[in-house]
Amino acid sequence: MGKTSKVISSYLNAEEFFKANQPFALTYDDISLATRYSEVLPRQTNLETSLSESMCLSIPLISADMDTVTESRMAIAMALQGGLGLIHYNMTEKDQIKEVARVKNHIHGLIQDPIKVIPEVTIGHVLDLIESKRYSFSTFPVVDQYGKLLGLLTSDVVRERYRDKSAEEAMIPRKDLMTIKQKEIGKDAIATADKFFTKHMGTSKLLVVDDQDRLRGLFTLSDIESIMAEQLSTLKPSRDAQFRLACGVAIATPRLPNGALDKDHILHHVHNLISEGADVIAISTAHGYSAGVGEAVSLVRKNFKDLTIIAGNVTSAEGVEYLAKAGANAVKVGQGPGSICTTRIVAGVGIPQLTALYECTKAVVKNNIRIIADGGITKSGDIVKALTLADAVICGGLFAGCKEAPGDIIEINGKFYKQYRGMGSMEAMKAGSAARYGHDKKDSFRKAAAEGIEALKEISGPVDITIAQLVGGIQSGMGYLGAHDLKELKENARYVRVTAAGERESSPHDVIELKTKTLQLD
Ligand code: XMP
Repeated sequence: MGKTSKVISSYLNAEEFFKANQPFALTYDDISLATRYSEVLPRQTNLETSLSESMCLSIPLISADMDTVTESRMAIAMALQGGLGLIHYNMTEKDQIKEVARVKNHIHGLIQDPIKVIPEVTIGHVLDLIESKRYSFSTFPVVDQYGKLLGLLTSDVVRERYRDKSAEEAMIPRKDLMTIKQKEIGKDAIATADKFFTKHMGTSKLLVVDDQDRLRGLFTLSDIESIMAEQLSTLKPSRDAQFRLACGVAIATPRLPNGALDKDHILHHVHNLISEGADVIAISTAHGYSAGVGEAVSLVRKNFKDLTIIAGNVTSAEGVEYLAKAGANAVKVGQGPGSICTTRIVAGVGIPQLTALYECTKAVVKNNIRIIADGGITKSGDIVKALTLADAVICGGLFAGCKEAPGDIIEINGKFYKQYRGMGSMEAMKAGSAARYGHDKKDSFRKAAAEGIEALKEISGPVDITIAQLVGGIQSGMGYLGAHDLKELKENARYVRVTAAGERESSPHDVIELKTKTLQLD
């Protein structure tokens, strides 16, 4: 049996299948993958991929360049898991550079900007803060107006019974605190902190100060212990050659009043981003197969020969080839599949995502380019399907409810949500993303038609938990298809159409589902 079987099943490979289904365009739920002979256990699979010759990821997951999904916190979390975050551009360029700096300067395990209090504040106030912000910790350094360390409030005193006491009265004073100078941390911060906690049994916090005794960070024993455990696992964070976390950034294509591309502006900003350590620049627009985007890509490529450039979005092989020729290393595929997108409704344009991906694969080999499936992914099975054609996926909605996504938690009828909005929604365009949809920012109140909506996502805990679930699903899919790696996943994929009855059969049915969900709020 297995590989030697003479019986031939009639499941079709990508080329046969998509040809057979013409002229219909299909998306994730329209198809299912056939199982193949397998000698592969899910945990033996290798999910490595690359966005260019130099940019490798150990998992093929990228968080979307959207203002409710990726800022530095999300980009750090994505890189730590082996993926990549694309920082959005709905902020000033100065702020965007700062966001990149935060990712590149992040030292895993060191809380670089702990929540601090001043000595005059009461414990009651601190308790209210914990409640309103839903903090899961109750240790707060106490600092003066210049940021100088004065003491530490620990969970032993942050209690109702001490509500009326001031932080100054309740804190462990500076002279009794364990500290380390910032410059003594060295290259391997985790090893330094681990050594410290081993030596000082019973101490659970180590404060970092600079030469002026200003607070510069905080190590906690529990973080260090979990990271040490993690290091024994197979997790491989995405890093640059200097061991800093990898960071992607999206940029717009600004224009001069006469409509020409503002080349100096683009080059200046890209130069600043790269100087800060950005590893990937994504030229992100709704219509990538267009003169302006092609021009912007060639401009950046001419000036930054070794840079990894992602460009998009397109839904045709011609579009992929056009951006590849302009100098992109990877192309984003997707027009209208996103969970908050209305492009297909508003403009009547767009291709259901799996067919779009298949069409784009036609330009891959000839142009030595990668394609990234962008939008419409709602479950791990969709990622497996996408990866039978693409090299990586971009997710917005799947990460928008995570604690690392920007925005506050909103409570409605006892349920917790975060805002999630399309970059083509009216509010996002007013905040800056109008150019992505080819509109002028000043027009976004009147003339521009929104191509996205504002929505809410139920909160979903930290990104690492979401990613663990997604990676588990991808590995399972690879196991079923007998694929050791993503290349074999593509080769082994065989597709079938799913009817409405088949789709009903695919989800739990004829039972009452028990929903158990554990959420970690911060
Ligand atoms: P998901 O399905 O992961 O999609 O939530 C995220 C992707 O959607 C795209 N995007 C938009 N598309 N109007 C659109 O037509 C919008 O307002 C919009 N905002 C984001 C984008 O490609 C993102 O990665």
